[in-house]
Parts: sequence; structure tokens; C-alpha cells
Amino acid sequence: MGSAAPAFYGRRVPLFFNPLEAAAHRLSIAPPMFDYFNTLGLHALVAAARLRVFDALRERPSTADGLATTLTIDPRTAEVLLRVLAGLGYLRVKGGRYRLTRTSRTWFTTDSPTSLVAGLEFWERTACVIWPRLAEAVRDGSPVTPFYELLESDAALSRSFQAWTAALARRQAPATARIIPVPRDGGHVLDVGGSHGLFSVELLHRHPGLRATVLDLPQALEAAADHPRLTLRAGSFLDDDLGEGYDVALLFNIVHGLDDQEVAKLFARVAAALNPGGAIVIGDQFRDSLMPGRASRTLLDLLDLNYRVATGGRVRDFREVARMLRAAGFDRPRHRRPLRSVVTELAVAVVKSPSRP
Ligand SMILES: C[S@@+](CC[C@H](N)C(=O)[O-])C[C@H]1O[C@@H](n2cnc3c(N)ncnc32)[C@H](O)[C@@H]1O
Repeated sequence: MGSAAPAFYGRRVPLFFNPLEAAAHRLSIAPPMFDYFNTLGLHALVAAARLRVFDALRERPSTADGLATTLTIDPRTAEVLLRVLAGLGYLRVKGGRYRLTRTSRTWFTTDSPTSLVAGLEFWERTACVIWPRLAEAVRDGSPVTPFYELLESDAALSRSFQAWTAALARRQAPATARIIPVPRDGGHVLDVGGSHGLFSVELLHRHPGLRATVLDLPQALEAAADHPRLTLRAGSFLDDDLGEGYDVALLFNIVHGLDDQEVAKLFARVAAALNPGGAIVIGDQFRDSLMPGRASRTLLDLLDLNYRVATGGRVRDFREVARMLRAAGFDRPRHRRPLRSVVTELAVAVVKSPSRP
């Protein structure tokens, strides 16, 4: 952050400069502290979720003292934590009573269908264990940790990561399923790296004749959805046989975790596993179709760094993905943006002629 523009701007997350603060920042009178404080803000959020502050305030708006009694926590420290959460946009305060904002009700209460609480440990570990090694990743141009191998050896981290991806999928799956091309008379979907299986299950609900197979690493399938027409298969999409005869292959949030060689190999293997005319549907972020705005651009760049430091993948342009699809034998790659799905957009293409790699 080098100018008067806010780090995060808007009514729900209202940490922004007033004109005086903005001038102090622009003239470099004040040090650029927001970036350090953002990290501390993550810890405030994690602590609040862990202490069940949001769950308690969902039950009943409360003063700091009242909340401290309910949760058996220190009232003076709790008061400051609540003020911080209000400043960050997660709480509202009126007459000394704190209540949830829509943001915290939607994302940080445990019972919300889109709760991110179980996924907070993943972000805490990402910020505290993986990102401190960013300088190494930038110096060497390679990831500091084989992230998915780490998940396979760390059940708690894997659970938290899967919970995070499942919460986002629950939000996005209905809009996404509406525009995924599926054969009228049934068919078989291969959900590559589908973990929780929620994108497949949404398709199964919409199409009674359809079957789906989720292929993912063993830990990732631990908490997968259950459905009579859903098969869970433990294995590696890079090395194991994908099978054949599929009509649709989903690659949701997979391509950004792979380097170019892995993407090329996977696209070719998926092309060979699909029936002629079958479709590949990639759900990912594309740099060249990003929502305009400095905050969106910066968040995408941070995400890009995250993929590079953790997996060796990266954010790509849609045009680049389309080129790689054509090289693997796919035709007519199209870009689709499902409504209400701000983080995942689609690239859809059909296979021309299956060719075994
Ligand atoms: C970012 S998550 C995406 C999960 C889901 N598709 C979604 O969009 O919510 C990436 C998934 O790919 C899986 N994965 C990574 N490498 C894999 C491999 N070599 N074989 C099978 N699955 C893999 C991970 O276990 C994880 O579940």
C-alpha cells in the first residue's frame, strides 16, 4: 500500500483512511502500518472464532462484560478484542452492546452453511508457517513446500483446508451447476481433485440420470459428501489411470496448483478419458477477466504468490488456458462467469478426438 487508497474498502470491512489519515500516509508522515496490522487482524479473527465469540453474539447481542461471563474469558481483554472486531467490520456496536454484521453471520458462525470457521486453521498455518518462507520461493522461483503432500501427512491441516474449500463450494456450486453442459439422458462426470464432492453432488441433484466419480488423494476424501450416484476414488490425477467413457470432466481449483508441464499432461489425459464431444469444465481464477479494481487485482496477486509459494502453480490468463486446451485436443474453449461466483470462473471446451497420451 503506497498511496491514499484503502487496503480494504467498503461498508462491511470498513478499515479505510479518513482524509487526514490518507494525507499522513501519502506524505509518509505515518508509517505504512496497515499491512502489519492486517496480519494481527487475522489473529484477532481466528481467536474470536476459536473462543466462539461469533456464535455467542449470534445467540444474543451483548456487552463485553456479558460476553466475558458467558464465555468465561477476561472482560478487559475481551472488550478490546470486540472493539478491534468492530473496527474490522465483523461486529457492530450500539449503546455498548455488540452484535454481528452480515459478514460475520454468513462466514464466521459455526452453523452457517458457508461457515469458514473450520478453515481458519488452514489460513493461520499458511500465514505463520508457509508465508514466512516467501523470500525463498521468490529467490528460487519454486515452492517451499509440496502442499498437497503436507496435507496427506497432516490430518488436522487437511481437514481445515477441505472445510475451507467446501464452504466456498457450497456458496458457488448452485450457480456453477446451472451452466455446466451435461448430456440429457444421463452420463458420467469425472470430478478431478473433487475432494468434498459438492460440485458433483449439485450436478447429481439437477440431473437424475447422471453419475459422478470424484478422484482425489486419500485424506481429501475423508469428509466427502455422500450420494447414491457418487463414487469416491482415492488416487493421483497425475499418475493413476483416470478411466474412460466420461461425458464431463470437472477441474475445479486444480489448474492453479500445477506447473505448465503438469497442466499439459493432465489436459491430455482428461481428453483421452472423455467420450468424443465430452466437455472439460475448468473452474479457476483468470487474470484477464478479473473484476476491475485495485483491491481485486491485489488480492489476486496475493493469491498468485500463495500458489507459487505453496504449490508451484500460478494464476493464468483465460487465453493461456484456452491455448493449452487446444494443444491437448480440445475445441472451442469458452469463458463463462457464473452469477454469484466471484472467485471461480469457468473455461469450458469439448474434446475433438480422444488420443491416448
Ligand atoms: C484447491 S482443492 C480444490 C477442491 C475442489 N475441486 C474445489 O474446487 O473445491 C485441490 C484439490 O486437488 C487435490 N489434489 C492435489 N493434487 C492431487 C493429485 N495429484 N491427485 C489427486 N488429487 C489431488 C487436493 O487433495 C485437493 O482436494
